[in-house]
Amino acid sequence: MIIDVVGAGSLGLLYGGKLLAAGYEVRFWTRTAEQAEKLNREGFKVIEGGRIKQIPPSLIQADEIKALSRRQAQPEQLPGEWLLLMVKQTAVHDVIREIKALKTKTLNIACFQNGMGHLEDLQWSMPHCNIWSVITTEGAKREQDRVIRAGRGETWLGKSANVCPASQTPADQNELIHLTGLLQQAGFDCTVSNEIDKLIYRKLLINAVINPLTALWRIPNGELITRKERIVLMRQLYDEAMMTYEASGIVLDVDVWEQILSVCHSTASNTSSMLSDVLNGRQTEVRSINGQIVSMARRCGLTAPMHELLLHLIEGMQPEGVS
Ligand code: PAF
Repeated sequence: MIIDVVGAGSLGLLYGGKLLAAGYEVRFWTRTAEQAEKLNREGFKVIEGGRIKQIPPSLIQADEIKALSRRQAQPEQLPGEWLLLMVKQTAVHDVIREIKALKTKTLNIACFQNGMGHLEDLQWSMPHCNIWSVITTEGAKREQDRVIRAGRGETWLGKSANVCPASQTPADQNELIHLTGLLQQAGFDCTVSNEIDKLIYRKLLINAVINPLTALWRIPNGELITRKERIVLMRQLYDEAMMTYEASGIVLDVDVWEQILSVCHSTASNTSSMLSDVLNGRQTEVRSINGQIVSMARRCGLTAPMHELLLHLIEGMQPEGVS
């Protein structure tokens, strides 16, 4: 069984490394040729709960993403059964450009990004592919030749109605059970969800409150809930998004405000992905997070002024606002 992991950042290496350690053949596709060479030459380590698992160079197959279409078009090259798309949301369009030559193939693509909007673009560009959504609370940190798993998260898989409005077929269900099994064998708590859109909207809301504020104030997640003034702003963002959801007919069933507070507790020392992007001078995912809330509000004749303000404040920081 071959699994293609596109994007060898911290999550890509965590999932890819653990799938390799479970005995699967994994091919990594990296942004640059240098990253691929380094992985092929040195391998890497997966650290979890104090245990170190060495992934030796002999097990690694890495190449730059540009080579993916070329190599998969060769008759002797076996196609991967799954393509785990693990790049950031902001890089999805670059990946689409690189793999467009495969658009007549039926690939199974599992998408791990924050935010919304990219899945529809991917499905439109790759009409024969099966596009699956993955929501995960796994976290990992990359340090030189090692990736460190931050606790044990949960992973849910499903097919979003935004991408495929027809209801899930038994064949879809089988594919989902298949990937769930692979990830469970690799040591992830993974479940098929028939309500993946609810999870996507829930994650969007959590990210829309935590990420821009931590990025603006340059604080770890836990610091958000240490001051009344910060909690007031968080609540305003939350209420504005909830009004938008209600007007759009999105029902979340659970108290997401409590979940936001609990994520701040459980990831207290984490640098949010948006803060990390800002600190590293990278483009952030704010347009696919707060920008999505703004667009949803507009579609129902509402406004989401707080989300809009944060969208512009964060976008205005890029890239020269970075020290
Ligand atoms: O984007 C992130 O950083 C994470 O999704 C979250 C949940 C905010 C924790 O840091």
